[in-house]
Formats: sequence, C-alpha cells, structure tokens
Amino acid sequence: MNFGFWICDSRFVGKSKIRNLKSKIVIISFIVAASENNVIGKDNKLPWCLPTDMRYFKNVTWGMPVIMGRKSYESLGKALKGRTNIVVTRNKDWKVEDAQAVQTIDQAVTLASQTDTKEIFIIGGAEIFRSALPSADRIYLTLVHGNFDGDAFFPGMEPGEWKLASNRDCVADDKNPYALSFQVWERKLLILL
Ligand SMILES: NC(=O)c1ccc[n+]([C@@H]2O[C@H](COP(=O)([O-])OP(=O)(O)OC[C@H]3O[C@@H](n4cnc5c(N)ncnc54)[C@H](OP(=O)(O)O)[C@@H]3O)[C@@H](O)[C@H]2O)c1
Repeated sequence: MNFGFWICDSRFVGKSKIRNLKSKIVIISFIVAASENNVIGKDNKLPWCLPTDMRYFKNVTWGMPVIMGRKSYESLGKALKGRTNIVVTRNKDWKVEDAQAVQTIDQAVTLASQTDTKEIFIIGGAEIFRSALPSADRIYLTLVHGNFDGDAFFPGMEPGEWKLASNRDCVADDKNPYALSFQVWERKLLILL
C-alpha cells in the first residue's frame, strides 16, 4: 500500500502564512542575544556591551531586511545601515526618514518578503518576539552566560518544536565580559502520514 505524506510546518496553519508560502518562500529568522534567565533588555537598552556579538549580528543581518518593534528602533536611535529597516507600530502617524513603518507584523513580513532576499530577520524586542514566535523558522540565539536583571524577556522555546543546528562557544575576554554561545535553532518539520 502506498502512503502519501505531507511535510508541513505548524506556522502555515494560519491563513496569512499560507498566503506568504504561495507568493514566495522566505525564511523567517529571529536574531537575539539572551541571558541564561532569558533577559534581553532593561530600561529599553541592552543589559550588556558585547562587541563580539555586535559584530556577529552585523555579519548575519548585513544586506537583509530587518523587522523591529517601535521601542527597539527608539533604543537604537536610528536605522541599521546596509539593511532595509521595517518598524512595527500601531500608531499610524509614527514616521521616520530612515525606516519604513507598518501597523502589523504580517505587513512587515510581506514588505520584507518583497526584497530580493531569501531570509528576513526579526530583531526584537520582547513584544515582537512574543507575537512572531509561531511564524519563526530559525533562531540565531546568542546565549549570554550569566543571569541578569531586566524587564524584557525572550519567550520560552518549546523544546519539542526546535532542534539545535549549530553551536559555537566563545570565552569571555577583555572586551566581552561574558562567555557566549552562538547557537542556531531550526524549527522541526512535522511529517503527517
Ligand atoms: N537582546 C536582544 O537581542 C534585543 C534585541 C532587540 C531589543 N532588545 C531589547 O528589548 C527591549 C524592547 O522590547 P519591548 O518588548 O519593550 O519593545 P519592542 O518589541 O521593541 O517594541 C514594542 C512596540 O512595538 C509595537 N508593536 C509590538 N507588537 C506589535 C504588533 N503585534 N502590532 C503592531 N505593533 C506592535 C508597539 O509600538 P507602538 O507602541 O508604537 O504602537 C509596541 O509598543 C529593549 O530593552 C531592547 O534593548 C534586545
């Protein structure tokens, strides 16, 4: 007997995701630095200064569209150069010259998908990560080895939904006071028989 099978991915359950799949296949990636207790920010700033991670972030995202929440844009203070910057805000009147503003994450993903890249990056912060996690295919996680005080957190990843594709450990040094692990997590595919 012959069994056909479908390989699918739970993020395509929502109608908007099916539309995205049909128009163009793009990888939706998160890139984030989070501590062992999942802190990513405090007082709308990063809780650390880690030049090695900043270099990694720049290398991975260079030339790609980046999507961020309005608060993260304001924390940066300006758009990231060499990248198409898309800012999500519910405020229709919010405008800046160096980034495109949209009102929903779906609009941001659609706009980013229109650029000539196969991967788009959601770069935070906490609220955007929380809402967009079901749509993410890949997570570039810099694990900062330490526990921090903070008010912005990375949402928990369901262990059954993700597999670790790569890991590179990096010891602390003069300029980077915490050890880091550069990890790439891929969403597991579901095989429906
Ligand atoms: N460690 C890291 O990798 C990393 C990366 C990025 C940011 N961060 C940190 O994270 C913190 C900021 O995170 P946050 O959660 O406070 O703010 P955020 O996610 O950057 O921005 C939140 C704002 O984005 C808009 N927004 C969010 N979800 C939306 C949706 N579904 N539809 C429409 N608009 C939406 C709203 O803007 P309006 O209020 O204008 O409507 C909301 O107030 C900072 O401390 C920053 O330094 C850390």
